[in-house]
Amino acid sequence: MALSANRFQLAVFGSNVSHGCTISSAAGGIEVNWGESLSIARTADRIGLEALIPVCRWKGFGGPSEFNHRSFETWTWAAGLAQATQRIHVFATTAVASIHPVLAAKQAATIDHISGGRFGLNVVAGWNSHEVAMFGKTQFPHAERYAMTDEWMRFIHELWTRDGEFDFTGTYFNGPRCYAEPKPLQRPRPPVMSAGVSPAGRRFAAQHADMNFILAPNLEMASATVADVRRIAREDFAREVEVWGNAALFIGATEAEARDYYQHVIHEQGDLVAAGNLLDTFTAESGSQLPDPALRESYLRNMMAGYSGFPVVGTASSIADFLQAMADCGMAGATLSWPDYTSGLTHLECDLLPELQTRGLRQAAA
Ligand SMILES: Cc1cc2nc3c(=O)[nH]c(=O)nc-3n(C[C@H](O)[C@H](O)[C@H](O)COP(=O)(O)O)c2cc1C
Repeated sequence: MALSANRFQLAVFGSNVSHGCTISSAAGGIEVNWGESLSIARTADRIGLEALIPVCRWKGFGGPSEFNHRSFETWTWAAGLAQATQRIHVFATTAVASIHPVLAAKQAATIDHISGGRFGLNVVAGWNSHEVAMFGKTQFPHAERYAMTDEWMRFIHELWTRDGEFDFTGTYFNGPRCYAEPKPLQRPRPPVMSAGVSPAGRRFAAQHADMNFILAPNLEMASATVADVRRIAREDFAREVEVWGNAALFIGATEAEARDYYQHVIHEQGDLVAAGNLLDTFTAESGSQLPDPALRESYLRNMMAGYSGFPVVGTASSIADFLQAMADCGMAGATLSWPDYTSGLTHLECDLLPELQTRGLRQAAA
């Protein structure tokens, strides 16, 4: 279930959390106010991007930037933006421990109606035990987290598709005489993305998701992950799944200008304390690949640039080259972030989208 016919689809990522995806004190980062969310969403909608994808965050990572300490809750954020936009898919990113499936299925159906069939669900199994603790819960070990996520998703799918009352009986959820009307407008269900790259995360995506949202240290490893996820989907579940990557864009009129901008945002204003706190939590709790300790500093720089998305530094032309390379790896799309979303979206509209259209990766917005 692709969001559009474009060969390389694009989404705005992280515009609901303070400083977005850039762990830096540089000026221009996301502040988290409604006018800002509306303006970013309406611009992305007008220029024909496929999706708005928020980050699910309940508390920040400290440091001088207090990275992500302010955040809009993603379901209510999606509902508001659904009303304010026309064409773009609006996703809620949800950590499964934070919401019961009966409520999640109902909220998804409601936002799908508000948006006229443009809701999408980004499922994260969760990794941050400090956040899980806020809900009075203890984080499950990684494998069990995915066993619970599998059941959570199957329960929601039944609520979205089954008529009348039914009993749901599982290990983690029991729902006698469950009922959910109205169904989502999108049939059989809204698009589902799942963000995770561990073996269990790949298997979950292959079985349940339309789009697997991954992080990879380089294009070679991204290419291998794409092939692996799609193979599992085909061989074990007889289905297709898209794989999306994540890119943090540092655009300049010249290569030197873009490099200077990156230098300023990451090397001069980057928040090593918050990035270190994030990395330590992630390393302890995610099933994603663990960084080589010898590479900690360079790993932190990538993390600072865009939540470990590919840092892409250059002119519109060289950034288009990189996005083309992502497409050539088999990726169906990328989530994008910028140190400054407003100027980033202007560059995207005026410079980068025309480059991508020339390369046949996208059509002009209607
Ligand atoms: C691309 C990507 C985006 C993610 N976004 C979020 C998020 O917004 N909120 C969150 O709590 N966890 C997020 N996660 C973390 C997952 O909850 C965590 O990594 C979980 O363990 C699933 O990933 P894994 O299968 O790689 O372990 C994200 C993970 C990836 C790979």
